[in-house]
Formats: sequence, structure tokens, C-alpha cells
Amino acid sequence: MTNKNYIRMKKLFISLLTIFTVIPFYAQKKEIPIYLDEGQSIEKRIDDALSRMTIEEKIAMIHAQSKFSTPGVPRLGIPEIWMSDGPHGVRMEIDWDTWSHAGWTNDSCTAFPALTCLAATFNPELSAEYGRAIGEEARYRKKDVLLGPGVNIYRTPMNGRNFEYLGEDPYLASKMVVPYIKGVQENGVAACMKHYALNNQELWRNTIDVEASDRALHEIYLPAFKAGVQEANVWSIMGSYNKFRGQYCSHHEYLVNKVLKDDWDFDGAFITDWGSAHNTDEAALYGLDIEMGTWTDGLTWGQSFAYDNYYLAQPYLEKLKKGELPISTLDDKVRRVLRLTFRTNMDRNRPYGSFATPEHADVARRIAEEGIVLLKNEKNFFPISKDCYDKIVVIGENAIRPLTTGGGSSELKVKKEISPLDGLIEKYGEDKIFYTMGYGSGPTVYDQFVESPYNADSLRTLALDLVKEADVVLFFGGLNKNYQQDCEGGDRTSYNLPFGQNELIEDILKINKNLGLVIISGNAVAMPWLDKVPAIIQSWYLGSEAGNATANIIAGEINPSGKLPFSIPKKLEDNGAMSFGEISYPGINNKQIYKEDILVGYRWHDTKKVVPQFPFGYGLSYTTFEYGNATTDKKEYNKNDIIKVSVEITNKGDKDGAETVQFYVSQKKPSLIRPAKELKGFDKVYLKAGESKNITIDIPVEDLAFYDDRVGTWVVESDQFKIHCAASAVDIKNSVTINIK
Ligand code: GLC
Repeated sequence: MTNKNYIRMKKLFISLLTIFTVIPFYAQKKEIPIYLDEGQSIEKRIDDALSRMTIEEKIAMIHAQSKFSTPGVPRLGIPEIWMSDGPHGVRMEIDWDTWSHAGWTNDSCTAFPALTCLAATFNPELSAEYGRAIGEEARYRKKDVLLGPGVNIYRTPMNGRNFEYLGEDPYLASKMVVPYIKGVQENGVAACMKHYALNNQELWRNTIDVEASDRALHEIYLPAFKAGVQEANVWSIMGSYNKFRGQYCSHHEYLVNKVLKDDWDFDGAFITDWGSAHNTDEAALYGLDIEMGTWTDGLTWGQSFAYDNYYLAQPYLEKLKKGELPISTLDDKVRRVLRLTFRTNMDRNRPYGSFATPEHADVARRIAEEGIVLLKNEKNFFPISKDCYDKIVVIGENAIRPLTTGGGSSELKVKKEISPLDGLIEKYGEDKIFYTMGYGSGPTVYDQFVESPYNADSLRTLALDLVKEADVVLFFGGLNKNYQQDCEGGDRTSYNLPFGQNELIEDILKINKNLGLVIISGNAVAMPWLDKVPAIIQSWYLGSEAGNATANIIAGEINPSGKLPFSIPKKLEDNGAMSFGEISYPGINNKQIYKEDILVGYRWHDTKKVVPQFPFGYGLSYTTFEYGNATTDKKEYNKNDIIKVSVEITNKGDKDGAETVQFYVSQKKPSLIRPAKELKGFDKVYLKAGESKNITIDIPVEDLAFYDDRVGTWVVESDQFKIHCAASAVDIKNSVTINIK
């Protein structure tokens, strides 16, 4: 073959090769629409998908098709979005169109401790583990949105849902919510931070109209939400039921359009609470992106299969078609829903999750162990070593009562729940443990109050009999997840322990003083017996591993390190919100004014010099810690500096333990009132017996700002500030003075 022919043949071969491989490949490649092409940016995929959708498909996508799902776009292969409660575990499957449980047998989950317990750990690393684990369970259950975490601030001990939230301090709530959200979303599941905003009670939650100052709003009630958006990039947020300044929060021009979407640049989907949408025009114009759970015929349970009646369904479509509302309002909603989809169920690379695993149980147990708070421990009542007593009498319904059910939407169906009694029998052996209930509250009911079906006298008689020969008595009391206790949809009606517990505790003490009290609750309670009870533990709804964690603490295998995430007032009116009468709580004729303003929790106790029973940030250990003098790297700072505060902590006891060092800041002469001090840093330090560590934390000078409502922005004033190094809000070890130029 001549050279010329060879070259000609080679060219022919290459062009044939091209025709039969490369072109079809590119032709075929060109066939992948942009919205389905993982190689494209999410924003490009959104534009492409949007351009292909009809207005009816857009309308369908922004409201429910069932109790917990929204339709995708079947024609384009865009999947449905499936949501599930809740903040403490993945709720059992719910029916398509009712609130009933669907009765599945493959949805028994891990119950993690309530978020109040997580807050009490003061351990952001544990919060990350919490988020990762619960996110794995949600992913495995094929949920695209997990309806949690809740970050509403603990304003009053009456709120039925405080157990679902992260306590009274915005800084603690902000630091603890960010890792949780990141952990969930690493699984390709959207967290849905809730309830935005000012949903600080359950009583009249659908109608109450909250008035709070700009300062209280920005300094107390919004920071955790802001952190979730700006530091954790949360993919969805749930609007609350209540109103703020006369407008429903689930479609609120200032809170949603201005603060959330403009100022904070939130790019996720804003979802109603179930039934919290009330108006088509406002829902269209004031930032609502997905409408769920609407009761179409007003504030009742609504009709069934009424999804087309939703405010953002047919009524909205008609207004759009008549040109009464701009299409741009619809397209912005759909963009956000598509972004949610591309971040979750259209991300082919997201992990597969896992469900009810030993690893998740281990996470749950460790959070429980680190969240339990030792409030009092006279004569080293705790820990109780295994060979210490022959007859350990356990009293109280909460030693055996399932506490993963109830409470409202955070209810769970668990693979296992180790009760405190189970845990103690496992730990000490059944021949040493003797149990009787002592008091009882009856079945789990959470939409109405039910009297206890038990004969209180006979329960009490049995208990007083049993404690006579006891070497030690462990009383498991507190609240439970029934209506008007720690439960959604209602508030407590008393600050006292219910079901005659106070009287029973007093009666037992008359017979046997060697009594350790374990309070299980998500709220502070009155403690009339405080001086007579030698040892008190504040425990929480600890979830699946409750009994193991509790027994490990009581036996001393784990040294308690929890710190209170809320103040415990001596009496109800010592709480800020509760000291201004009905207009402040629970409101009058659906009007409520947050009269305590920025002085929530310890801010009130400090500034008004009202001594709490137990302060925010308080918790004992089985060892003791010594604090050195705190120092800062400089004496003067500019406004964009970082303050480095250091202190040496020593474990002076003979047991390993952990101490949360807290740093509060006071401004000397603020131009507006400020709380006596505000938490601006904390660090949990693990120390072996006798060990010392020098810890340093960073406090950005910008964190010393207050919200100046005269100019509508945050301001750091040039002034002298004190940084208090403390073991609780009242136990200041030492302080260091700095100047901000
Ligand atoms: C409930 C709760 C909310 C929950 C939702 C779905 O009313 O307020 O927290 O996620 O409805 O159950």
C-alpha cells in the first residue's frame, strides 16, 4: 500500500470511528437534560427544571399531597419530598391522610435523648454525633426532611415543649444546634429548624399574638435560628403557629422576607408548621415556600384529601391566572423546593444511612450520660457502689414508665427502651432491687388531661411499707409526656410535681432519710423538700438507653458532667416571664407581651438579684475542680479582634471527670440596659484525677455586641468589659478586665 493510500485509509478509519462512537456519545450526552445532570451546578439544574414545569406542576410542588409529603413532578422524574418528625428520633410512619400511626413493623427506631439533655452536655462534639446518627436513621427511613431540631428559647417553666429545645440561653442554643444540623445534612437529609419564631408556649399556640421588643427578638429569640442559617446552612426552616406583631409567623413580611431571606440570606425552603398557614395573599407574598397540614375548613382537623383547597393550591393558582399575584412569587418558592430536592433525593451521592444500630444506641447512651445533672450530693450519697447495700428500694412511676412515647409530634416507636429500673437491676442484680410504684399518672394521653386511674393511698401505703427496711431509697419522679406536663399542645398548670409526689417524698423521708431523688423532666419544678433530700439528680427524657445511662451514673461508672441549660427558680414568680402577670404569660385575649424583654433566665436572676434555686450552668461532679486565674492575650482590643481567654483547670479529686468552664461577659457602662452578664464562651474539659489543663477559648469582639434598636443593628461600644470565668451563672471563679477601643 502506497504511503498516500495508507494515510487515506487511516483518515477513513478515524472518521468512521468518530461517526460510530464519539458523535453518538455526545449526541447521547446531549440527551441528559441539565436538571438531571449531576455535573451541573444546582442553580443551573434549578433554572432548567423550572423552565420545563407547567404552572400546575409548580403549584403542586409547594403544598402537601399527604400528611408528610409533597408531590414532585412525575412527568420530569422529579421525586416527591418525604418529611418526618422529629428532633429525638425518626417518628413511626403516619397514615397518608390522618394523624394515625400507619402500623408498619419496620419503623422502630433509636430514641435519642431530648434536646434539653443534649444542651445539658454543653458538648458540641456530641451534638455532631447526635445529628449524624439521627440523620442516618432518617436517611435509612427514606425521609428527605427531618422536622427538627427545635430551638425555641426556654422563657418560662410552663411551656409544654421545653423538653424539645436547647434551654434558656441563645449562645448555648446557637453553639449546640449548628453541629446537629450539619450532622443530619451530611446524610443528604434536610434538617428543619423550628419553630420560627417566638413559639415559647403551647397554650393558645395557634392564635397567640406575641409582642416583643426588637432587642429581645434579636438578642434572645433569633440567634439560634441565625446560627443555623449562617453557620450550619440549614436547608429548611419551619414557621411557627403564633403571630408576631399581628402577623402569622409562617408568612411574615419582617421575620421571613426581611430577616430570614434578605438579611440572613437563607436559601432553603420555609415550611409551615402543620396548619400554620392562614391566608393565600400573605403566604404568596411573605415567604412561605411549602404549606403542610392545613386545616382547610379553618382551625379544626379539616376535611380529608383536601389538598387542592390549600391556601397555596387552587386559590393561589386562580389569583396567579388572574394576574392578582406575580408569577415571580411562585417561581421563588419552586426554586427553593427544587434546591431542597437537589440537595436531598436528587443527590445520587448521598449515603444510605442505617437504622436502630448498636452504634446509634451507644451515641444515645453517651449523650444521656453527659447530660445528666447532679444537683445535690450530701455525704457522697452518690455514687452507690455495687456492694454498698443489700436492699435498694426503688420508688416512682418514672422508674418504669415508657417516656419515648407521648409528648406530641416528637413521640417515637422504639426498638428498645431500657427503663431506669431495668438499668438498676442489670447493674446491681435483681436480688438487691425492690420496686413499687408509689404514685401513678395513668396512660399516655396528649390532647386532654386525664386523672390518674390509680388509688393513690394504696400506692403510697405499699411504698411506705417497702422503704421501712430499705438500706437506701431511690425515687424516680418528675413529669412525663402527658398533656399539661412535658407535652406539645398544652402547658403545665402548676410548678409542682404532679400526682402527689411531693407528699409522698415527705412521707418517705419521715421513715427513711437515706433517699436519692431522680427528677425526670424537661422543665424546672418546685422543690419544697430540697433541704431534707440528701441527693438530687436532674435527669431528662433520655431515650432508648435511659436505664443504662442512669445506672452508670448512679453506680459511679460514669462521673456526671451535665450542667443546667435553664435556671430553676425557687418559686414560679421568680422567673422573669412569670413575674409580670397574665399579659406576660399566658397572655390576655390572645395578646401577649414579653415584659421581661431581654432579661430571660439567668439574665433576670442576675440583673434583678433574684437568687435561683439552682442556676443556669450548674452541675456537680463526683470529683472537684480548681480554677486558676483567667488571663487574656491582650488588655485592649479593636472591634474586629478575637479575644483569647485562658485558664488552668485542675481535677483535685480521685475520680476522672469533666468540667464545663463558662465565660460570661459584662459591659461596664452600656448606653442601653444590658443583662448583668451574658454567656459568650464555654469549654468542656476532661481531666483525669489530679490532672491539670490550660484551656484557651476565642471570643470574637463582635460577640460583645448588643442589638441597638435605635439604629436597628448590632453595636459593640468602646468601653470596659469584664470576662468572668465561672462554673455556673452564680459561681464566678475570677474575672479579667479588658478594654474595647
Ligand atoms: C406539630 C408540631 C411540629 C411538627 C409538626 C408535624 O404541630 O408543632 O413541631 O413537626 O406538627 O408533626
